[in-house]
Amino acid sequence: MASTFPTPDVTPNPEEGRRVAALDRQHVFHSWSAQAQISPLPIQAASGSYFWDYEGKRYLDFSSQLVNVNIGYQHPKLVAAIQTQAARMTTIQPSFADEQRSEAARLIAELAPGDLDQVFFTNGGAEATENAMRMARLHTGRHKVLTAYRSYHGATAGSITATGDPRRWPSEPGQSGIVHIWGPYPYRSPFHSTSEEEESARALQHLRDTIMVEGASTIAAIMLETVVGTNGILVPPPGYLAGVREICDEHGIVFIADEVMAGFGRCGEWFAVDHWGVTPDLITFAKGVNSGYIPLGGVVISRRIAASFQDRSYPGGLTYSGHPLACASAVASIGIYQEEGIIEHVRAMADTVLAPRLTEIAAKHPSVGDVRGLGFFWALELVKDRQTREPLVPFNAAGPAAAPMNAFAGACKERGLWPFVHFNRTHVVPPLTTTEAELHTGLDILDEALTVADQHASA
Ligand SMILES: Cc1ncc(COP(=O)(O)O)c(C=O)c1O
Repeated sequence: MASTFPTPDVTPNPEEGRRVAALDRQHVFHSWSAQAQISPLPIQAASGSYFWDYEGKRYLDFSSQLVNVNIGYQHPKLVAAIQTQAARMTTIQPSFADEQRSEAARLIAELAPGDLDQVFFTNGGAEATENAMRMARLHTGRHKVLTAYRSYHGATAGSITATGDPRRWPSEPGQSGIVHIWGPYPYRSPFHSTSEEEESARALQHLRDTIMVEGASTIAAIMLETVVGTNGILVPPPGYLAGVREICDEHGIVFIADEVMAGFGRCGEWFAVDHWGVTPDLITFAKGVNSGYIPLGGVVISRRIAASFQDRSYPGGLTYSGHPLACASAVASIGIYQEEGIIEHVRAMADTVLAPRLTEIAAKHPSVGDVRGLGFFWALELVKDRQTREPLVPFNAAGPAAAPMNAFAGACKERGLWPFVHFNRTHVVPPLTTTEAELHTGLDILDEALTVADQHASA
């Protein structure tokens, strides 16, 4: 059953748009930005897979905002559930038992693999990875955490240190004891592999070697994005996650799967690890759990780790842990996924639309070096030259160096498509409720806009 979204009342009102933008520039301090160099687009409405600016221009969203609006904008049943809970009880602090919190935890535990059956709720992803690392350290009595260079885990003190990408640099020196490793990336193999199997084996050997020299007895956890998100949609090659599981078991290391972006249907499974049949010890989630209608995240905890905190208190908490309004939205969201077959829709569209069309688009454009992904989680990696694989823009490009990617993004926006762009990649990550016809429309625009990137690539 397809989701039905309301048609918003959108009236062009550029004057109001200018007022909103001016206030924003005067008083809002934005994330990750040089404040004088940004001009945030004011948005007046959103519904389903679209949002509208104050000129009345509609954008088809191929980014799901920050890859979080999985259920689409303004899902009427989700909005109604929030309204019902707001009327019933908007807040109660974490040390009470609350009906919606209990129910959300039960549902999430039921969906999670293996013996992961308790949930610690947070307000978002960073607090989830932060607490997962804390749990692993206390459970093992060890300090170090291994994470991948190509990763993002959040922007709080521990989570930004765990992050591998350049957003970490300005926050260094960070928390002690975090060691970065290379994860598998067949297209740009750090291990000079020539096949997925080789990449998997060599990445596991690199992990073993790192553990050997760091000292297994000092390592609390290995925290990995099940499928690396912002840093490239890096789908683990066959055997990699099972190998990480085995290595963790061998050394008593906690395996944390960060599914803040990859979970809740994004990969065509409730949890991305289900795709490989691997059970981590802790799973972090946020984003898709309730599509960001109310801030929510958390850690799903295995019985073994939860047991560490039966008779000693867990030294972490948040005023809004398990916020009833947020939890009610998670309960409703999970129900909607089930009633509307959203995960089945993701699988079907991945097989019949996204995979074949993106492969076809990639073959046609000299600027596309690689296409990869699963579910509604795809990347096109843009290059100057398919032979040398030189990226279309350098690693971490900004300003004029990023011009070719900005021109490509501009070409998408001009045509009414909001793309996700990171470094030399565009990610195709629409809301999971995007219909087949909408996917085709977006892919047609993407196809056209890539001719702009082609101008910077050798034929
Ligand atoms: C894999 C992953 N972990 C953690 C985070 C941090 O989540 P938040 O921004 O909600 O703190 C993100 C955010 O993009 C993410 O993609």
